[in-house]
Amino acid sequence: MQIFTSIADFQLWRENISGTIGFVPTMGALHKGHLSLVEYSNKKCDTTVVSIYVNPTQFNPSEDLSSYPRDVDADIKLMKYYNVSAVFVPTDVMIYPNDFSTVIFEQQLSSKLEGISRPAHFKGVTTVVAKLFNIVQPTHAFFGEKDAQQLRVIQKMVLDLNFPVEIVPCPIIREENGLAMSSRNEYLSDDTRKRASIIFHSLEMVKKQLQAGETSSKQVVGFIKKTITSEPLAKIDYISVANSKTLVEIDGNLSGEILVSVAVFFNKTRLVDNFTIIL
Ligand code: PAJ
Repeated sequence: MQIFTSIADFQLWRENISGTIGFVPTMGALHKGHLSLVEYSNKKCDTTVVSIYVNPTQFNPSEDLSSYPRDVDADIKLMKYYNVSAVFVPTDVMIYPNDFSTVIFEQQLSSKLEGISRPAHFKGVTTVVAKLFNIVQPTHAFFGEKDAQQLRVIQKMVLDLNFPVEIVPCPIIREENGLAMSSRNEYLSDDTRKRASIIFHSLEMVKKQLQAGETSSKQVVGFIKKTITSEPLAKIDYISVANSKTLVEIDGNLSGEILVSVAVFFNKTRLVDNFTIIL
């Protein structure tokens, strides 16, 4: 396995790679969610490239950039074990040199849901992913449905800007108790992790109600709110029932493909989860 910390070295290596290249961009602290993306890429593509880069521009000033979990050595060992062809670990100054002055900003989907609480977040994500796509030049890129809005924003960016990359959505990987795997789960005590599984259970219950014929967005939001707030440690950031494609909130009767998504604080840790359903 090749490990690159320089863009130029990576590009030299890339020149000699042919066939399909699967790319898994990550911020490290790799867990089974990331690993599933790597497995999908290994299966689908001739070569798999993983990037590990904690992107400062996608964190709000109040967010956890300095304390974000980092363990590059452990990540690299894991990637070797998973037979990844190359790991790209750039530094901040390589990605954002002092005179860096260009951003990529998707303007329809980015301001909704997560964008309300984190206004600059997706501008940071699209800018870094566009850069990584240009450097890595993958044929396929793998993104988790756990970050449903991120997936849609990237799909839109690729469409709008004609990136020659196929975006492959991958299902949410969960802990045994249902909690969606996340690097941020490392902040939670064992007890809080158990409690936080209420997020998944509230979504599962509401999914069953929708499958049984519930069509009121108010009922859905009300039920999730009641269920999650039964856990005293939980503080809801948002509960959204939206059109799965446009991310426009639905207030009233639900039909078509909808995305039900939530963001919930447990202490200072912000957890997200979602599901899509066709009604
Ligand atoms: P990060 O949070 O490290 O996630 C990297 C990829 O792993 C994303 O596509 C994310 O959706 C996926 N992922 C995380 N947890 C998952 C889970 N439980 N099941 C399935 N997939 C999961 O997302 C980012 O990094 C960054 O925003 C990035 C795209 C790298 C740009 O900086």
